[in-house]
Amino acid sequence: MTQQTNIAIFASGGGSNAEALMTYFANHEKIKIALVITNVESAGVIAKAYKFGIPSRFIAKKDFLDAEIVSTLLSDFKINYIVLAGFLLLIPAYLINAFERRIVNIHPALLPAFGGKGMYGANVHKSVVAAKAKMTGITIHYCNADYDEGSIIFQAASKVFETDTAEDIAHKVLKLEHAYYPPTIERVVNL
Ligand code: GAR
Repeated sequence: MTQQTNIAIFASGGGSNAEALMTYFANHEKIKIALVITNVESAGVIAKAYKFGIPSRFIAKKDFLDAEIVSTLLSDFKINYIVLAGFLLLIPAYLINAFERRIVNIHPALLPAFGGKGMYGANVHKSVVAAKAKMTGITIHYCNADYDEGSIIFQAASKVFETDTAEDIAHKVLKLEHAYYPPTIERVVNL
């Protein structure tokens, strides 16, 4: 029997990347999205997981710091990899240590540009506009103890036009994310 890899998606928002991952791996023979975890009780990702028949759990911010709660949940679902998809809390050290090189994040810019604390979602795209950057894009990287600093796995770029608003950029970036995140995760798991 081929060994299965179980992924937990961590997401805080609408979950369009989570949905792209759930779609891509829906009938995969070796990789399964086994669990969705969110720190936002009303996050749109919960309904998306439900639609795919994937269990989801809400964990409040303070409980994320409790290694016992999170580790027990991940081990109950036999999770091998954690994939962050718009997850806005810093990953605690106990998880980084337990899942070394098995936590992957996607960032909506070309790191190291436009990264770090407070740089998420629309804030990133507004900063790109304010800086009059000519290019932006996506970065898929391993997660370490600091925001957006783990080693880079994949990047894809997109031009920014002078007339682009933050919303225009968000739209282009999300398209890249949906196209590249699932196959990159597949490649990382198969390394
Ligand atoms: C995505 O653009 C993702 O790269 C970004 O949040 C958005 C989530 O959208 N993540 C970060 O900014 C993390 N620093 P989604 O909920 O529709 O997938």
